[in-house]
Amino acid sequence: MFNLIICILFLVSIKAKVLCSIYKVGDLDAWGIPTSSNLQIYNKWPKNHNLKIGDSLFFLYPPSQDSVIQVTGESYNSCNIKDPILYMDNGNSLFNITKPGNFYFTSGVEGHCGKSQKIHISVGGNGSADYVDSPPASGPAASAPSYPTVFGSIPVQASDSSFIKVSIFLSAATGLFIFLLVNGRI
Ligand SMILES: *[C@@H]1O[C@H](CO)[C@@H](O)[C@H](O)[C@H]1NC(C)=O
Ligand SMILES: *[C@@H]1O[C@H](CO)[C@@H](O)[C@H](O)[C@H]1NC(C)=O
Repeated sequence: MFNLIICILFLVSIKAKVLCSIYKVGDLDAWGIPTSSNLQIYNKWPKNHNLKIGDSLFFLYPPSQDSVIQVTGESYNSCNIKDPILYMDNGNSLFNITKPGNFYFTSGVEGHCGKSQKIHISVGGNGSADYVDSPPASGPAASAPSYPTVFGSIPVQASDSSFIKVSIFLSAATGLFIFLLVNGRI
C-alpha cells in the first residue's frame, strides 16, 4: 500500500511537469525584426497564448546576429537597451516563468527595439492552480490524460523523445492505477 502511494505521488508529480509548456515566441516567425507584412506579431502573440507560471518562453534566433534581453517597463517603452535585467545570446534561449507579473523583452542589438522587435508578457497570479491534479477517480471510463498544446516546434530531439516516453509511461501508470482500483485493491 505504501509503495502504491509513492507511485501515485510520483505519477502526479510527472503529470504536473507535463502540464508545463514551452512556447516558441513568434511561432513560425521565431525571434527577429517583424517583417512589414506582420508588424504586429509580438503584440498579438501573447494574446493568443495562455501563458502561466511554470511555462517557458523559447526565443529562437541566429546567435551571431541577434539576442534577447529582459528589460524594465520604462526601458521597454523608451527602447533603452542599456543595463538589461537579463541578457541571452546563445540563439535558443529559454526564459522560465516562475512568478506572476509583467515581463518585457526586446533585442539587445541596437535599433531592433525601434523596429518593433519587443514583446510584453503578462502572467496572472493564479496560474499555478493547474498544478493541483488528482489521479482519475472513476472506473475504466476515465478519459485519457490530456496534454498541453505546444505552439511551434522545438528543435531539441532529446526532449521530444523524452516527452513521448513520459506520455507512454503516464498512460501505462494510469492504466495500472485503474486496474488496481477496479479490482478493489486500493
Ligand atoms: C530555464 O530552464 C532551462 C532548463 O532548466 C535552463 O537551461 C535555462 O537556463 C533557464 N533559463 C533561465 C533564464 O534561467
Ligand atoms: C488570485 O486568487 C486570489 C485568491 O483566490 C485573488 O484574491 C486574486 O485576485 C487572484 N489573482 C489573480 C491575478 O487572478
